[in-house]
Amino acid sequence: AHARVTVTPSDIIAPVSPRLFGSFVEHMGRAVYTGIYEPGHPTANEQGFRSDVLDLVKELGATVIRYPGGNFVSGFRWEDSVGPVSERPTRLEVAWHSVESNEVGLHEFADWAEKAGVEVMNAVNLGTRGIEDAAALLEYSNHPAGTALAEQRRGNGRDEPFGITLWCLGNEMDGPWQIGHKTADEYGRLAAETGRVMKWIDPSIELVAAGSSNADMPTFGTWEKTVLEHGIDVFDHISLHAYYEENGDLESFLASGVGLDRYIRTVADIIRETLEAHGSERTVGISVDEWNVWNQTRFNEVDKPPLFAGEWNQHPRIIEDEYTVTDAVVVGSLLMSLLRNSDVVSMANLAQLVNVIAPIRSEPNGPAWRQTTFHPFALTARFAAGDVVSARVYSDRQHTSSYGDVSLLDAVAMTDGDELTLLLVNRSTTEPLEVAIDIEGAPIASVLYERTLGVPANGDRHTSNTQADPDAVLPLDLGIVTVDDGGAQAVLPPLSWSIVRLA
Ligand code: AHR
Repeated sequence: AHARVTVTPSDIIAPVSPRLFGSFVEHMGRAVYTGIYEPGHPTANEQGFRSDVLDLVKELGATVIRYPGGNFVSGFRWEDSVGPVSERPTRLEVAWHSVESNEVGLHEFADWAEKAGVEVMNAVNLGTRGIEDAAALLEYSNHPAGTALAEQRRGNGRDEPFGITLWCLGNEMDGPWQIGHKTADEYGRLAAETGRVMKWIDPSIELVAAGSSNADMPTFGTWEKTVLEHGIDVFDHISLHAYYEENGDLESFLASGVGLDRYIRTVADIIRETLEAHGSERTVGISVDEWNVWNQTRFNEVDKPPLFAGEWNQHPRIIEDEYTVTDAVVVGSLLMSLLRNSDVVSMANLAQLVNVIAPIRSEPNGPAWRQTTFHPFALTARFAAGDVVSARVYSDRQHTSSYGDVSLLDAVAMTDGDELTLLLVNRSTTEPLEVAIDIEGAPIASVLYERTLGVPANGDRHTSNTQADPDAVLPLDLGIVTVDDGGAQAVLPPLSWSIVRLA
């Protein structure tokens, strides 16, 4: 099969935002306990955080971490998680039918985030709570000194404010599974009133209103419009959550990025039309603050029934998906969709970071390792710089039942000075794809870097990285070459994601 991609550096879509490489740590399953935190582990630091996991988080290149939920936040009492650890209450955690010890809370997580070099994106509980608690948490976090809440924080060992800029106003409030699920009007009004008070306390913050949990929600579209109308003067971002799984249809699964493109553009249109209709000149971005491959069928059939029927346990194993090389190609292409749409996507968070549908896995008292999906994320985060620019694709196509005909080649380009970074996916499951690359107005002189992630030598597209074989799937050389007419050529293996850097 054949394809061509023509890059036009002067046609800028948007500057590359570091905020696209966010991730998510929820108090859920083993994300925190035996994930980032495990006192007594051989690599644990003085606070009980695992250095092996921390090193992998740094290598992943995550920039901003959403915390502490997720569904968890809708029943969370933030004040349980501050003060002397020995005095913190143990609570039933209803969202994930677990027991929460509150051993790790705001102070500990902020310390960890500092060590990891990431920004904290916090969330307030708009499921069981409202304005007063959101305002209190913000004052506790960001007010310098001299009030009861600020002095409480200082008494708890944190002299300077945490200075948290990004705040989620609740989580997935459109979902009947959410504690305190609301209609769009109920949520929109509460979020707007809460947000206004929060900005009166600290005008420097940015607020994320909860959008739809997925594009198949019956309220999708009207939810965004209604919620935005309530808080058009106060929301800075509206969230969008998107999870994909194979469900017996490989071609559609490999085209998940097309689905995400359409989902994002639909939300962007709603935001633009709503702002215009109200004569607002504000910018409201899309915060894709949960996205990933997630085998939800497995969760509903295997994890969920015993979890919700059974005992209450601390940090049970939930949704510890083991990602295949196929999943990694899709994760790479979802990240490409986020970059391609970064004129409207203001930030994004891979959900999640450790153990829970995560690029990093860890075992209690055991090793930590990189899942297959770690690699496309880490390579993209490492090399993404400059501007996302137009990459026109001319390609053979294949049919998908979910998205119609899609091109075999998916491509995204970024230029930074004289350097061009291209991300390329071959969606064919059987055919190598010969790709000709050219840059308008600039001959390609050299190949600076190249890697491809595809089906390993064993020929099995279900291969994953496991504790026993953590490097079964690794990025390998692609073998791209420059050609006489000033272009470059590559042969992308079937079902592969690649990164090339050219000058
Ligand atoms: O990331 C796992 C869960 O998915 C989150 O708690 C929730 O917000 C979403 O439904």
